[in-house]
Amino acid sequence: MLDERRAALEEIASEVRDCTRCRLAETRTRAVPGEGDPDTEVVFVGEGPGFNEDREGRPFIGRAGAFLGTLLGSVGWQREDVFITNVVKCRPPDNRDPLPDEIAACAPHLERQLAVLDPAVVVTLGRFSMNTFIPGARIGQVHGTVHPVDPATGAPNALAFAMYHPAAALRSTGVQRDSLEDMRSVPAVLLQARALREEGSAQAGAGESAARVVAPGGAPTEPGGPAQPTMGPTAGPAQTGDPVTATRDRVDQAHTLAADPVDEASQLTLF
Ligand code: URA
Repeated sequence: MLDERRAALEEIASEVRDCTRCRLAETRTRAVPGEGDPDTEVVFVGEGPGFNEDREGRPFIGRAGAFLGTLLGSVGWQREDVFITNVVKCRPPDNRDPLPDEIAACAPHLERQLAVLDPAVVVTLGRFSMNTFIPGARIGQVHGTVHPVDPATGAPNALAFAMYHPAAALRSTGVQRDSLEDMRSVPAVLLQARALREEGSAQAGAGESAARVVAPGGAPTEPGGPAQPTMGPTAGPAQTGDPVTATRDRVDQAHTLAADPVDEASQLTLF
């Protein structure tokens, strides 16, 4: 299963590297398909490659990427635990916003990646990614909240969790603080998504969960429902030898190690 996913993702990546579906192919140095654990439950989707990513062919390796690493580290995760990709796989010239026809041309690549990964949670980074998964939303209103995902995106069994783009956090200490608070909710959203998937009702449940706002800095608030779910190796089903469970346990254990994620993160040097 793991090898099949890895091979399927590599096939998509190789098509992305040769892609000429839109004008961005003419100005790119390298396409940036995305990278990470083929067996992860959590996919982070940004906007599009910047200068450094275009040179190296890897996502989020510049200053915004360093802050994304800080965000992941704040809950005890690492880049290698998740999958990181973008809405458009080639750098828009001068880092301009991707245009609607470029996003549309690139959408099948993202859709196929998500169909292979079948994530439980898609974390959207910035408004272009948010608009793909949560159409019509406004980032200032929905950051830090969980939403159902349109099945047409390729992730029918996922919940979407909206966050600011990490580059915005480099420009504003308020956004930086909000981003760290929002990130703190992601492990709980993962537990929520797992529970919905185990019920076999991600879409049905997601409809409800859209109304359960994840309070910035807190757990999903469920009126009359349980408080913050317990994180730890007991959170997932205990089946040894199953790579999915093994990855879950690794992520759970990593999270358990972060005693107070936000305090830890606040001690890191960001720039
Ligand atoms: N910004 C993005 O949206 N994606 C990257 O890969 C790098 C910067």
